[in-house]
Amino acid sequence: MPLKPLVAYELDRPFSDQQPRHSLDSDDSHAVDELDPLRDSKRPYRDNASHSLRSIFHSEKHALLGSPPRRSSRRWSRLRFCCYLFFLVIVTIFLLLSAGGLWVYKAGASHDGESEPWYPSPRGGTVQLWSRSYRRAAELVGQMTLVEKVNITTGTGWSMGLCVGNTGPVDRLGFPSLCLQDGPLGLRFVDNATALPAGITIAASWNKQLMYDRGRAQGLEARLKGINVILGPSVGPLGRLPAGGRNWEGFSADPVLAGTAAARTIHGIQSQSVMATIKHFVGNEQEHFRQSWEWGTPNALSSNIDDRTLHELYAWPFAEAIRAGVASVMCSYNQVNNSYACQNSKLMNGIFKDELGFQGFVQSDWLAQRSGVASALAGLDMSMPGDGLGWQDGKSLWGSELTKAVLNSSVPVERLDDMVLRIVAAWYQHGQGDDRRWPNTTLGGGPNFSSWTNDEVGNLHPGSPDSKDTSIVNKYVPVRQTAEGGNHDALARRIATEGIVLVKNEGGILPIPRSANGLATKAKDGKLRVGIFGEDAYPNPKGNNACPDRGCNEGTLAMGWGSGAVELPYLVSPAEALHEEFDNATVQVTDWKTNSVRKVDGTAAAQDLCLVFINSDAGEGFIRWKTVMGDRNDLLPQKGGDELVREVAANCGGRTEGGEAVSDTIVVLHTVGPTVLERWIDLPGVMGVLIAHLPGQESGNALTDVLFGDYNPSGRLPYTIGKSEDDYGLDSKILTFPNGATPQQNFTEGLYVDYRYFDKHNITPRYEFGYGLSYTTFKLSGLFIHPLSVVNTSLPAPRSYSDDAVPPHMDPRVPDPEAAVWPQGMRRLAKYVYPYIDDVESAKPNGKYDYPKGYDHYHKSTEAGGGEGGNPDLFTTAASLQLSLTNTGEVVGEAVVQIYVSLPSTTLDVISNLTVALDTPVRQLRAFEKVLVEPGSRSQVRFSLSRKDVSYWDVRVQKWVVPTGELRVCAGFSSRDVRQCGSFELVGGGGWS
Ligand code: NOJ
Repeated sequence: MPLKPLVAYELDRPFSDQQPRHSLDSDDSHAVDELDPLRDSKRPYRDNASHSLRSIFHSEKHALLGSPPRRSSRRWSRLRFCCYLFFLVIVTIFLLLSAGGLWVYKAGASHDGESEPWYPSPRGGTVQLWSRSYRRAAELVGQMTLVEKVNITTGTGWSMGLCVGNTGPVDRLGFPSLCLQDGPLGLRFVDNATALPAGITIAASWNKQLMYDRGRAQGLEARLKGINVILGPSVGPLGRLPAGGRNWEGFSADPVLAGTAAARTIHGIQSQSVMATIKHFVGNEQEHFRQSWEWGTPNALSSNIDDRTLHELYAWPFAEAIRAGVASVMCSYNQVNNSYACQNSKLMNGIFKDELGFQGFVQSDWLAQRSGVASALAGLDMSMPGDGLGWQDGKSLWGSELTKAVLNSSVPVERLDDMVLRIVAAWYQHGQGDDRRWPNTTLGGGPNFSSWTNDEVGNLHPGSPDSKDTSIVNKYVPVRQTAEGGNHDALARRIATEGIVLVKNEGGILPIPRSANGLATKAKDGKLRVGIFGEDAYPNPKGNNACPDRGCNEGTLAMGWGSGAVELPYLVSPAEALHEEFDNATVQVTDWKTNSVRKVDGTAAAQDLCLVFINSDAGEGFIRWKTVMGDRNDLLPQKGGDELVREVAANCGGRTEGGEAVSDTIVVLHTVGPTVLERWIDLPGVMGVLIAHLPGQESGNALTDVLFGDYNPSGRLPYTIGKSEDDYGLDSKILTFPNGATPQQNFTEGLYVDYRYFDKHNITPRYEFGYGLSYTTFKLSGLFIHPLSVVNTSLPAPRSYSDDAVPPHMDPRVPDPEAAVWPQGMRRLAKYVYPYIDDVESAKPNGKYDYPKGYDHYHKSTEAGGGEGGNPDLFTTAASLQLSLTNTGEVVGEAVVQIYVSLPSTTLDVISNLTVALDTPVRQLRAFEKVLVEPGSRSQVRFSLSRKDVSYWDVRVQKWVVPTGELRVCAGFSSRDVRQCGSFELVGGGGWS
């Protein structure tokens, strides 16, 4: 089985690529003219419409020119009738098309001005921790020519290098082409790297150390493979929509759990001198309509998010990533408040660079960039993969177009310098400029694998029809087990084990024994009969990597699909591990390898114990598996899983007691997210349920660790399991039919996502956020809360500009265009993206560039900023907490202690000084710790809450505000199982300066 499909890159081509594309002819091109995203993207619609009209007239002509009518009057009247009918059809179609056109025109009309303009783009280099890197970057960038600078900002085009993203190098100064590679759970298209458990699985472990270790493993493997930038972790989607196709790549629907996991992952990755990317900023909560034309609509969906919700929910984990020093952020495909995320100045300039003090570089998602000048001014720093509005056509929105835009002054030199400085400074910041930590390309570094072939020798630029440049591209460097990194297979197993959540354990059926010895009730003829039921227990018969990017649901589910998936180096299936672990002398294992329920009753009846495996899969929208187009169609198990469980549970053991079937059925669910279990969860035969999430390569081993009790389950749900999809709220559904030419997704539920929604509406979930059982029991006692003086002031200390570092000074003059012209005799590869211009003429201004609205207004810095992640005072401790955790059971185990805060429901308003209502969730997770305790022992657990933890975002004052009133703090084992609560007064009252 090939490790990577040779044609895999074609699958990443969105549907839009197949649409006719407007050609950006370089002769009549001007950076300014070409950058209207609507001009290009509307065209295919018109083409389609005229096509259909043409074909209607065409068929009409045929009908009229058909055989002449016979003279029979019946025939005549029949023909007349046909003509009328035909005419009617034509008129109807015409009216429908006109109405459709009018609808598209109306609905497609841009919703201008819904996202506030924020200019100019704040410069990097304002944070002391980064000053040295910026100084070094300035020295290097100061020696670069215009085209060299542009080369660094723009990818070379899809599959024009060995990685999924490749920037242009500046060989003259030793700055390499950067290799950017997916993704959030391991290294995509890379041989023999570890297929780690997915984001949702590590989140379910709630183990901060493991989060770091997982990131470190990713970073080390990336460095050893020559990858400069990992395209992960992901915290967007956050999980607003439980059926969202890519939720599993990220961590949790809760911003604190997601933010903590992201920060730990980033620390881990970057500890290995590899740059991490936090993605996708922001609002990419569903796959349907995420990109223009991919789903038939001319524009991508707009996620309409209000300011408070953005701050308190969706931007929160991004802020944590910046606080952790993340090198890069990826802007998302969708629009936010009707402005494309990758040209949304409020998001990139305002929130990311000013308020959150981001010092690294913003890269576009692949083809998420929809304009050239506008995106540059709005804060985009790197165009990925360098292609423009279409894949692999060599027509970049930057490259030579950015060169022209700088030469004709549409884009200030200062902005280009800032883009380059941000990239080069991030490179220095993470030690990649240091040959001892990172062997420079000129010294033999760079990627030692190819994303496009498994062969040793391959094309260096396979995307170009001209390229015959072959070389050794795959060096098959082993990375899973190294002296530096230890054993990543073992790490993958540990994470997968801790990511399993035990949600039901009737009569303590779990853990189960390996052998029948000593089992009085179950052993017949000295043997225990165990049945393994369901396709999800077995490997895909066609091979673990048979479906490119894991884009199908065949065999046991180890990860979702899309760019967030990796090639499995191996996959230990549950059935394989179970066969291995059961004592063959005393246990007879029977396999039922499909989900078919035909005659399963007989097989189930012959077992003493039945293990049923089911799953639910999803992925990125460029791949469709059956009717699942990325986002799930519902929250139910797939492939008849529910029926299989019902049938097995009703028959397993073939025994009845008091007229009721008695069976010992244990269900294992592999899943991408919240899955509704109602069709069988209460059946008496379903004794045990384990939610094993997406375990990666060590699936079976991790499962047997928990099943046999070698490891006491410690996973907790990172989301809520409702009793029905409706329980998540009306706004929680995927928008599957466009409600306009620019589909609109209004985030009207605001902060009320997942458990916050259930709590607000008092809906009883099946299993709540944070829930999970253990083989032991725990007790919490003695909560002690110590509030600090921080809570006596409503607002954080004013932003201190005097502490800021000063961005490097660069020469602001527009360079000589002559130096940007193609060097004589230089070989050009077709479709490859270059920074050169054809001649000096093409760089001359051609009319006035229509700058975005608000560009002439200088936006003041916000008081909410001042450091990486926001105003530093937001992270001052507001209260410290302490409590005791006792293991009251028989076995050693880990508890996840969770701290929830409830802000007061009224507050003194900082502007009017009147008491006003404060709309705030019933409780919000603010801290957690996973603690191991021996049976009978007690452990002290400590937490601290920051100013931000006890604040809300006030949209009028544009700051985090500590309200006045009672703050309730509860410690517990889930969002609904709080054991110890206390409160203290938030005095607030300090005015607004
Ligand atoms: C598109 C995906 O949205 C993004 O997450 C990924 O990093 C890029 N493709 C590159 O594969």
